[in-house]
Amino acid sequence: MDKQFQWWPPQASNFAPPVDQLYLFLLAVTAFFTLLIFACIVYLALKYRRRRGRRPAPVQTNHLLEITWTAIPFALTLVMFFWASGLFVRMREPPADAMQIDVVAKQWMWKVQHPSGRREIDELHVPLGRPIKLDMTSEAVIHSFFLPAFRTKQDVVPGAYNIEWFTPTRVGEYHLFCAEYCGTQHSKMIGRVVVQTPAEYQAWVAGTGVDEAPAVVGARLFTQFQCNTCHGQRAPTLANLFGSTVKLSDGAAITADDNYLRESILAPRAKIVAGYQPLMPTYAGQLTEEQVMDLIAYIKSLHNQQP
Ligand code: CUA
Repeated sequence: MDKQFQWWPPQASNFAPPVDQLYLFLLAVTAFFTLLIFACIVYLALKYRRRRGRRPAPVQTNHLLEITWTAIPFALTLVMFFWASGLFVRMREPPADAMQIDVVAKQWMWKVQHPSGRREIDELHVPLGRPIKLDMTSEAVIHSFFLPAFRTKQDVVPGAYNIEWFTPTRVGEYHLFCAEYCGTQHSKMIGRVVVQTPAEYQAWVAGTGVDEAPAVVGARLFTQFQCNTCHGQRAPTLANLFGSTVKLSDGAAITADDNYLRESILAPRAKIVAGYQPLMPTYAGQLTEEQVMDLIAYIKSLHNQQP
């Protein structure tokens, strides 16, 4: 892929063109002012150089000049700010219909699991044209999931879920890097993202040695850890919980998202649902990050079911 020299990585996601346009704008503004300032330095150095018998006239304040060279850079930086922050906000808000893929970072590999169950390591297969949301966490240290051809990069921090989303727009294989120094093998924590046509992706995901879907594993864990002995009776029901608004005992109301569910499993006393006692034991140290994601997938699957 990288046989020839390239100025830019290929553009392979919906974010590649807008990120490149912004970057080109920054480059153009920077280049223009660099050249302008250099030209002024040379011109003024020659014009006002020391000459025998002549002394330069004292400089007077020029308000028009000062307002101009303040207002123009101010306007330009405001354009940069709104342009970049608008794009930043878009990159933080995955569409509701995005397909979720789980990513667990560890020293030193990327463990990926698809909704159907198929797992892969240091590789990410995605279908063309479908919005993809990566739900990512890390087991010990901070990593960063960087896809240059997609122009997206997101730190993966232990103890929470970090989100990255994109829509692949070009079939092919592209680089995956860890972009945060995470220990001795950091530089080897690399892989590839493979964009396939939807049909190819379907065939791949259903391929050999199929792993169980996270929701199926989660359902088993739910019984194995005896969550079912309390939930629905002494403990709040989990049916239709995901995405709903939860009233807490301190009067606050929050949305039951991935991070809330994760915290409720690992630190159940952090947020108590109104009307319930803090009876639930913590499962921190008993579950791997993958198992927590499986349980959350199971809870998400309890949609439109009778409590
Ligand atoms: Cu993981 Cu650097």
